[in-house]
Amino acid sequence: MYLLIVAAHSLLRWLVLALAAWATLSAIGGARDRRAFTRRARLPGVALSAVADIQLLLGLSLWLVLSPHAVTSAGRSGYWTFFHPLCGLTVVALVHVGSVRIRRKLDDAARWRTAIRFYGAAVAVALVAIPWPFLGTGRPLLPF
Ligand code: HEM
Repeated sequence: MYLLIVAAHSLLRWLVLALAAWATLSAIGGARDRRAFTRRARLPGVALSAVADIQLLLGLSLWLVLSPHAVTSAGRSGYWTFFHPLCGLTVVALVHVGSVRIRRKLDDAARWRTAIRFYGAAVAVALVAIPWPFLGTGRPLLPF
């Protein structure tokens, strides 16, 4: 079970990164071209929220129970038990708070700007959260 969940969590990072980059780049394009913030414009953010939630569930199951570094285990480590989950939670919070703030804005220019800020910040924090292979705590780019 552990190996399956950690492999899914590892693979899903690429989808989180790709969708966050898509949401940011499409918001930059929308702001530049002064496009209307239509229902279709919400698609990257909605897809990103859904995938970020799945990543959160997988991460929580590792963090709470399955991982050798779980908060409940003797193998707790500064990186895996504290730093990485905190960064991961920040990514998920940025995506959700961003979606709510976008909806509350009164005009399209403000919606695009808010999308750039929150989804752009989510990309940046996700890049920090990922245990890249060249780091001391690094893991492979793919689980297989
Ligand atoms: C956008 C958010 C996240 C990304 C991109 C991400 C990415 C990753 C990656 C690439 C790994 C290494 C997998 C491997 O061993 O190959 C990992 C491991 C891990 N993640 Fe996340 N993660 C995210 C969110 C979270 C959250 C929110 C939590 C907990 C609340 C979490 C908990 C963990 C734990 C405990 C491990 C270590 C598993 C182990 O080595 O036993 N992650 N994560």
